[in-house]
Amino acid sequence: MNFSAFLPRTFLSFGKGVLGKVGKKTSLHGSKALLVAGEGAMKKLGFLDSTKKFLEQSGLEVTVFEGVEPNPSVPTIDKGIFIGKNSDCDVVVALGGGSAMDAAKAIAVGITHFEEDDTIWNFIGTSDREPKPITSATLPLIAITSTSGTGSHVTPYAVVTNPETGEKTGMRSEFIYPVESIYDLELVKSMPAKVTAETGFDVLAHAMEAHVSTNTSPFTAPFSLTAIELVSRHLVNAFENGDNLEARQGMALADTFAGIAITLSGTIAVHALSHAISGNNTEIAHGQALASLSPTIMTLNIEFGDEKTKKHYSEISTAFGKDANPVSSVQAVIELSKKIGLFKPLSELGYSNKDIEKFCKDTFNASQRTLSRNPVELDKSKVNKIYSDCL
Ligand code: NZQ
Ligand code: MN
Repeated sequence: MNFSAFLPRTFLSFGKGVLGKVGKKTSLHGSKALLVAGEGAMKKLGFLDSTKKFLEQSGLEVTVFEGVEPNPSVPTIDKGIFIGKNSDCDVVVALGGGSAMDAAKAIAVGITHFEEDDTIWNFIGTSDREPKPITSATLPLIAITSTSGTGSHVTPYAVVTNPETGEKTGMRSEFIYPVESIYDLELVKSMPAKVTAETGFDVLAHAMEAHVSTNTSPFTAPFSLTAIELVSRHLVNAFENGDNLEARQGMALADTFAGIAITLSGTIAVHALSHAISGNNTEIAHGQALASLSPTIMTLNIEFGDEKTKKHYSEISTAFGKDANPVSSVQAVIELSKKIGLFKPLSELGYSNKDIEKFCKDTFNASQRTLSRNPVELDKSKVNKIYSDCL
């Protein structure tokens, strides 16, 4: 058996109240922190202030960069890099969901790698262009997650959107693994129901996609199948009652397991095709795009996949507590997305037939590597058909 895989290399502090550790943890890695946050949720809830206070109590100088939008954009990241460079930061602390964490990862790269007139887009590869190299000079990153979704607190990925072209794609480097992750259940407990649903579906998609990926490894199944079991047990409860700490904890563990699963094996066509949907309208949440695409792509993979793929989907069905028929996994996903309000075709998200050509172009330009991990090979006409079937 031959395989290669990134293994986790993040120190994780998990539980209720662990945010208090952030000062001590960060001081192990630097003395001038750039604290990166989203558009206001963390400030409103008081977590931005408490994080800043904890950092200062441990002797760190803190510069705050707020305003990272969902599906973080190139200009926002470039601005954060400018601020981080000017304040001479030597460590980056992310506070928020995947958007704040990914922006912070990209900022940690840019602060030490930018040459004159650079932009973070130069560090992201597309089908016609190699990215500039990311090196060990990248600043250390401390991730404090406030959503249970992307797994970004344990992944070597950062996903960035270019608003000029609508392209959305990932940066991948071992140097953007967070050195420390702080997973405080008090933070995720404040997620509103809609964000709980969208981010929770992302967890499920990661687990299912890593499980069936052509790049699957012997390490993947324990993480991916456990994450699916946890989502199946806890997501609806977390959605219906945000104060249910047991459900929040279940989703937080699932998020972490699924993040490790995608680090090991990557995602497949669902993620590849989803980026065009959120990239061309950044108001559409990543998890919603995944929910609108998943059943169609799962059905196609089960119909045209080989025996191994069918077996993988049958394992997913069982992890959901269903019978071992691979198709039962599709049924389980549809039932779950209905319960959490995400069962919507692309037309309900405002798209129509005229958008499909651009989606296909973006998918092949920005997400070809992800697409190549799909267990059934997908050419342009098949991708086109998936988008139209999802309308
Ligand atoms: O912007 P603020 O004010 O912070 O509000 C956010 C945002 O409006 C809000 N929110 C987050 N935590 C909250 C909260 N509101 C109340 N209480 C809390 N505890 O929720 C909204 C969504 O936040 P966002 O960070 O955009 O969501 P998510 O965590 O789903 O991150 C999505 C981004 O991560 C990328 C996605 O593509 C997308 O850009 N991904 C990153 C990955 C990675 N780095 O490994 C993998 C994923 O597949 C994904 O692509
Ligand atoms: Mn995702």
